[in-house]
Amino acid sequence: MQIAYDLLPRNKRQSPPGRDVNLGFGLLRTNHMFQMEYADGVWRNACILPYQPFSIMPGAVCLHYGQTIFEGIKAFRHEDGEIRIFRGDINADRLNHSARIMCMPPVPPDLQMEAIMRLIDVERDWCPVIPESSLYIRPFMFATMDALGVRPSTTYVFCVILSPSGPYYARGISEAITLLINKSFHRAAPGGTGSAKCGGNYGASLRAAEEAHSRGASQVLYLNTDNTRIEEAGSMNHYHVLADGTFVIPTFSDTVLRSITSLSVLELAEAGEIKARQEDIPLEPFLKGISSGDIIEAGGFGTAAVVSPVGRYCLEDGTVYTVGDGGVGRHSLALYTRYSAIQTGKAPAPEGWLRTVPRYS
Ligand SMILES: Cc1ncc(COP(=O)(O)O)c(C=O)c1O
Repeated sequence: MQIAYDLLPRNKRQSPPGRDVNLGFGLLRTNHMFQMEYADGVWRNACILPYQPFSIMPGAVCLHYGQTIFEGIKAFRHEDGEIRIFRGDINADRLNHSARIMCMPPVPPDLQMEAIMRLIDVERDWCPVIPESSLYIRPFMFATMDALGVRPSTTYVFCVILSPSGPYYARGISEAITLLINKSFHRAAPGGTGSAKCGGNYGASLRAAEEAHSRGASQVLYLNTDNTRIEEAGSMNHYHVLADGTFVIPTFSDTVLRSITSLSVLELAEAGEIKARQEDIPLEPFLKGISSGDIIEAGGFGTAAVVSPVGRYCLEDGTVYTVGDGGVGRHSLALYTRYSAIQTGKAPAPEGWLRTVPRYS
């Protein structure tokens, strides 16, 4: 499909932030966005245009029934000056997985990638170079049909926006976070939407996250609905590290998002770079493992969170489990360093992991 350009004149564009600005995460926007519409069974009107509000009807399905999905991807500026997107093709496939679950139309993965690459090409200057920073890419789709009956929309908008961002947790890799293990809140139930990146999963997680914050924790570590197994945190998959350095990630299921970071860690293990595997993680043995020292490190994996070590787990009754010495462990730090080096081009990337943004003009 032809992608049209409706760009701001250069003298009307905002300048990217300087190197000394604290970017925060997901706060800043660039000058333009990508947008296209779906109607009568086809995507049309693909365009890169100035960042601006949408005009949608008050009865739009997305506003009432949450038919919305999204992705989170990162691009990095490498030393040769080129911008490279990390594993965006897998995100494109996952967006279509979410679309299937939410009864939305697929977006051809090649079209998703071209939209992202053409938008980044226009916004090249916005890809930050500061350590631990990246150009965060947010593709999303929402239902626009003006109808109050509960059924899938027949019209949609797909959009991509960009945000030059620093680390998700303000202190980045330098400080371990705390997670609340809470048996009262659940993120997802079997047969539900847990493996989709849909707005409802995140809206439903806010109350639990507020509870976590009130107890000094960054996020909730969710359990399965009968509170026997660890699943994942609010915006990252979970891992723990055994004494021999093996990373153990809870098995994917229809209640867990298939984290592309976890998949990448497992691929590094397949290539023999590290030791990692997936298995079901029963809660009680996990807590015992922390107390006994069999579990020496733990943390979260995610595009935004990268590798975020967890130093403490607190339970609803106030019990605190400290992992190792509560700090950032050497295995987590080594994996973070290795993973970031691959993303930023300081170490060679496995075949196909990075895609260079072409210079279209
Ligand atoms: C609920 C949830 N789990 C896991 C992840 C990590 O997934 P990924 O590594 O693909 O970013 C995320 C973040 O995207 C998330 O929101």
